[in-house]
Amino acid sequence: MDKKGRVFSGARPTGRQHLGNYLGAVKNYVKLQEDYECVYCIVDLHALTSLTDTANLRQNTYEMALDWLAAGMDPEKSIIFIQSHVPQVTELHLLLSMVTPMGRLTRLPTFKEKVRQQPDNVNYGLLGYPVLMAADIVLYKADTVPVGEDQAPHLEFTREIVRRFNNLYGEVLIEPKIVLTETPRIMGLDGVNKMGKSLDNHIELAAEPAEIRRRIMTMVTDPQRKFKTDPGRPEICNVQTLHKIFCPDPTVPAQIAEQCRNATIGCVQHKKMFAEDLIQALAPHRERRAELAAHPERIWEILDAGAERARKLASETLRECKEAVGLP
Ligand code: TRP
Repeated sequence: MDKKGRVFSGARPTGRQHLGNYLGAVKNYVKLQEDYECVYCIVDLHALTSLTDTANLRQNTYEMALDWLAAGMDPEKSIIFIQSHVPQVTELHLLLSMVTPMGRLTRLPTFKEKVRQQPDNVNYGLLGYPVLMAADIVLYKADTVPVGEDQAPHLEFTREIVRRFNNLYGEVLIEPKIVLTETPRIMGLDGVNKMGKSLDNHIELAAEPAEIRRRIMTMVTDPQRKFKTDPGRPEICNVQTLHKIFCPDPTVPAQIAEQCRNATIGCVQHKKMFAEDLIQALAPHRERRAELAAHPERIWEILDAGAERARKLASETLRECKEAVGLP
């Protein structure tokens, strides 16, 4: 089997996945498995940089793994594992930190943003977050890293660190290509913020039908459309945007858009249609997830087996790096 290269991607263990996670990342992870050797990591150590309460870490890891597997991320095709199960990453993180200029880290927009978000918890690990991420990627010699736009500065940083390391110690590491994941920014139920758990403006992939209906009814549509008799603007309506993605008949959204413009369909009616289509679209996922959840121990076994494979690649790269640096 000839693959185009090796992909690495990681995501923090955020628990049950929602439409935003799926459309922004997971869907693409599944697709990449066909053409690339893929390494997918649940980055629990990265999660520690912004958590003081770690009580839910195990549960969140498990719930996210369930959704990943149910969505079609396949342990037969890809290496799927938990970051902290491969301790080599922490050692490589230390080696890379020695070729990382401090100023480069403090100037990163992502770091500044975190400082604003958690002024009471500006820890050393937070500053080193991108170094750990670089270690993730280079440890598995990935040449392709699919990320959202928000992570692009981290990838640029990774590429710089690789060049610096290789200049100093020889061509050991691979400089990864950035592949920006092309997805429309998935807005939450409020229609103005990115879909996310923290704002509770999301719909979970495994949500029950009643929950899907309830959440969709709260969606904000065109704020200028006060009454059913007002003409609406489907191009700015989030129900329209999401319905287009999940509607089984591609001609329907265009019809609804027309009816919205000439005020022959109301927002409530459209929401009801969208809810039923979304329930149908997510049903297979919900069923597969329930089957997997019947045997939790198997999920942990899959993750253990993934870590075992990951450790083989990792220890090889780490050995090369230590030798290149000249550690006795
Ligand atoms: N920093 C990424 C995020 O917050 C997660 C991550 C960690 C990652 N290591 C990675 C992504 C390596 C891509 C490659 O989403």
